[in-house]
Amino acid sequence: MTILPLLASAVGGALAFAPASPTMHAAGRSQWGMGRTCAVRSGVAPICTRGSRLQLAGLRAQSGSSTAERDDLEDRTNAHGVGLLQNPFDEDGRCGAFPGLPGDLLKKKEYDVPVPAGTPALDPWSEAGGLPAGCPEDPFVLVSAELAPFTDSIKDVVAAEHPILSEAAKHFFAKKQGKRFRPTIVMLMAKATAAVPSAHTEGEVYRKQAELGQITEMIHVASLIHDDVLDEADTRRGGEAVHKLYSNKVAVIVGDYLLARASVVLAKLQNTEVTEIMSTALESLVQGEIMQIKTGEEDLLDMMTYLRKSYHKTASLICDACKSCAILGGHASNSEVARAAEEYGYHLGLAYQIIDDVLDFTSASDVLGKPAMADVSLGLSTAPVLYAAENIPEMRPMIKRKFKQEGDIERTLRYVMQSDGIDRARALALFHAQRAVNAMCRCVHVRVCVCKGVLYNV
Ligand code: FPP
Ligand code: MG
Repeated sequence: MTILPLLASAVGGALAFAPASPTMHAAGRSQWGMGRTCAVRSGVAPICTRGSRLQLAGLRAQSGSSTAERDDLEDRTNAHGVGLLQNPFDEDGRCGAFPGLPGDLLKKKEYDVPVPAGTPALDPWSEAGGLPAGCPEDPFVLVSAELAPFTDSIKDVVAAEHPILSEAAKHFFAKKQGKRFRPTIVMLMAKATAAVPSAHTEGEVYRKQAELGQITEMIHVASLIHDDVLDEADTRRGGEAVHKLYSNKVAVIVGDYLLARASVVLAKLQNTEVTEIMSTALESLVQGEIMQIKTGEEDLLDMMTYLRKSYHKTASLICDACKSCAILGGHASNSEVARAAEEYGYHLGLAYQIIDDVLDFTSASDVLGKPAMADVSLGLSTAPVLYAAENIPEMRPMIKRKFKQEGDIERTLRYVMQSDGIDRARALALFHAQRAVNAMCRCVHVRVCVCKGVLYNV
């Protein structure tokens, strides 16, 4: 059996980290891609599949539009081409290209595209959420061979004349290499979009896609090194943050150095579309960070503002890397495959960030490898807080003043834990994870079967 697409291994990766919620229960025995499956969480519309259609219970199931109409709508909403994903939101701040909230499906007909028969229904938190027989325990293992040379080659890439630069840069690529989530996604996408998946590790195309994985990780690590300076975080990946090991000045320069090296490798790919898309991802990271620092009082309560920020901070890099990988694989930037890769990355990236925000409440710092309960302390309101505040008005003034008054942090944590905020945030992550899977299933040109979100060519 040849592995083909993708990646809801990421979905597996992103969602499966989250422990089951005590208030969650499955409405029926959950089956992967078969029959009717519903995930029910307290206070949330159940996410169900019936036959070949994914639908949110209570929402419109069929658009009734013809294929031609849908193609036209899809063309218009996805006609961003290179670089336009920089801002996939309309003037009102709502998502333009893809849905951000389940409710968007009601407002925008073009989001309600048919889901092919056999598309799996994800629900890693259901009672039967385990892996079906024959599936790999760990989706990361699927491309572990491809990632084996990654550490050595990236260490070469970041070798520098001044020892402190290469030492600090190598710190993250050798000792504290983390999950390597982004390069894993890029390598899975390379397989998924290859014409002959079994031969995907040969040739120039594969070499360039592997370099894209390195570029993506270098950009990500650079942003984390800078982020830890801004957030004054002492730990990262279970070790000391670079600015604690050295100094703020060194950390800023090391991040810059990684970006510079990533730019050189990117230029060497000699693909102007990919260069433009990946440069746009850099711009988006900065935009996300400034949004985080400068959001106005009222917007702090707004879920769409949170999602836009999450897109810029996290999803854009994954989305742009997925699309770039498809382009390097020989697909035109407006092809069905490249667009599906882009949509996949968008939804996966949001699911990943939302789960990261949930874990900030539910996991201990020794598990996370970075400080837990950090977001509220930094004045940030993430999905669990925003959902909790919808039903607990006392939380709103605290959100607006970024939890600055004495007792705000403790009260907020108590409210979140007492509310359904965490369940609803998980349901939102599941919505995005499902859309990610749907996107790939729409474009996959071969028959696939699914193991916990990892699709196989059969
Ligand atoms: C982590 O967020 C931070 C990011 C994903 C992006 C940070 C971006 C910048 C600092 C802009 C500069 C960009 C570059 C390319 C140098 P978090 O603080 O929510 O997550 P954490 O808990 O892992 O720290
Ligand atoms: Mg941080």
